[in-house]
Amino acid sequence: MRIIVLGAAAGGGYPQWNSACAVGRRAWARDPNGPWRTQASLAVSGDGDRWTLLNASPDLRSQILATAALQPKHAPRHSPITSVVLTNGDVDHIAGLLTLRESHRFRLFASRRILAVLAANPIFDVLDPACVERCPLELNQPVTLAGGLTLTAFPVPGKVALYLEQAEVAIGGETEDTIGLEVGDGRKSFFYVPGCAAMSADLAARLRQAGLVFFDGTLWTDDEMIRAEVGSKTGARMGHMSVFGPEGSLVALGALDIDRKVLIHINNTNPILLEDSPERREVEAAGFEVAFDGMEIVL
Ligand code: MLT
Ligand code: MN
Repeated sequence: MRIIVLGAAAGGGYPQWNSACAVGRRAWARDPNGPWRTQASLAVSGDGDRWTLLNASPDLRSQILATAALQPKHAPRHSPITSVVLTNGDVDHIAGLLTLRESHRFRLFASRRILAVLAANPIFDVLDPACVERCPLELNQPVTLAGGLTLTAFPVPGKVALYLEQAEVAIGGETEDTIGLEVGDGRKSFFYVPGCAAMSADLAARLRQAGLVFFDGTLWTDDEMIRAEVGSKTGARMGHMSVFGPEGSLVALGALDIDRKVLIHINNTNPILLEDSPERREVEAAGFEVAFDGMEIVL
């Protein structure tokens, strides 16, 4: 199984178009220790020919341009992309669907809740239903993907997409607004959890002793965006557990005997983006990797 990180940044990418925070300024200056990253997505294949996208980021077109495996292989029209799976309805995970119009046949997998969000927005009708089959994922029910892969969706504490928030926002519910994915080839498997509000006992049990986990690395600390003066929300309010701290992912995942832990969906304010930062050293000393665009893992 081949896994390619198409993008490793959170929504907005790194740098974000309107952000000149301290970490962002390093990227705008083209500092080699702050390499640019596009918005989070993985491509995975069991046979090297047929590829599944885990989320469709607004940067999908540039990600395809940067990734030979995803480019057309024969005339007159072709794409190796056979399936797309969504982990939630956030803009950074669904806007790339609009790039996939043009009558290409693929299957689109998401929870019923997220398929309903897409169905309620006619712009997604650019994906012609004659070509794009929308397939509901039942939690904990494995489905087969083209190219010899098995996909299993599972609940992850989360919240509704930002643009669907109402006055009262429930955070941390396992409502199928946010799911995690396990992808396997019958021999090995890995987990993709780019958004997670908290480490529940069920999630910890599922991830324990995994070979490879890509996990929510949005913020280093909960109040990072407030301190950087780029926003008023904590990570908790956005539905993201932080990397650092007693409730953070370094501690939570560090306790689970996972072989390979890769942080992804990293916000443009997060100092782990900087290769020379103390926070990056701390993450690496704890046995974690920081995903980057073009990172490839063969399982
Ligand atoms: C998130 O990960 O919290 C969302 O992508 C936020 C957003 O929609 O901008
Ligand atoms: Mn996001």
